[in-house]
Amino acid sequence: MQQKTRIAPSILAADFACLGEEVRAITAAGADYVHVDVMDGHFVPNITIGPNIVAALRGHSKLVFDVHLMISPVDPFIPDFIKAGADIVTLHPEAGPHIHRSLQLIKSLGAKAGIALNPATPTDVINHVMEDLDLILVMSVNPGFGGQAFIPAALDKIRDLRGRIDAGGRHIDLQVDGGINFETAPQAVAAGADVLVAGTATFTGGREAYAKNIQRLRGGS
Ligand code: DX5
Ligand code: ZN
Repeated sequence: MQQKTRIAPSILAADFACLGEEVRAITAAGADYVHVDVMDGHFVPNITIGPNIVAALRGHSKLVFDVHLMISPVDPFIPDFIKAGADIVTLHPEAGPHIHRSLQLIKSLGAKAGIALNPATPTDVINHVMEDLDLILVMSVNPGFGGQAFIPAALDKIRDLRGRIDAGGRHIDLQVDGGINFETAPQAVAAGADVLVAGTATFTGGREAYAKNIQRLRGGS
């Protein structure tokens, strides 16, 4: 069943010169998850955050740390991110040869496991690992950068996955990531998403605007 809408600000759009303060600010502003985009310059054409930064930020918020790994290979780094404080670890099926093994590794270390589907990745990839998933992330942009335009075909994918999750009867977060703003957020929620990742749309207008931005993304005025 679709849960109430939760907002996961992507700190990729935060001020990197004061990330701790930014994480405290979104926490105070009512965010639900802290979404951390990890990029390696190899799986995606950008380099961002490593486990040391996750560990440094951990003390700044009690919110769920939702760590989105866009790195390959992925397995060698999973333990480091969980040790650093990741509550959810999401990986891309293209990032390693044995996705079932990677998901088991995440769970064996006490974190929740997610799988991220690129715009061209078919939903069938989850068919035989549904039981192992706590989160499915639908990429509504190609991974690598914030501030890109929402790809409308993601909505069909969200609808398809909402049907499968509900048919399975187990709660799995259905997350959408990329190009979420005040216009696309309600579309994604109507299609069945219950966690919205939003970088640019959260971190816009200065810190005093974060609470209002989050509230609007969640569907309030
Ligand atoms: C893209 C990242 C997204 C991105 C979202 O690779 O996974 O989380 O930062 O940024 P916005 O909300 O600006 O599209
Ligand atoms: Zn992300």
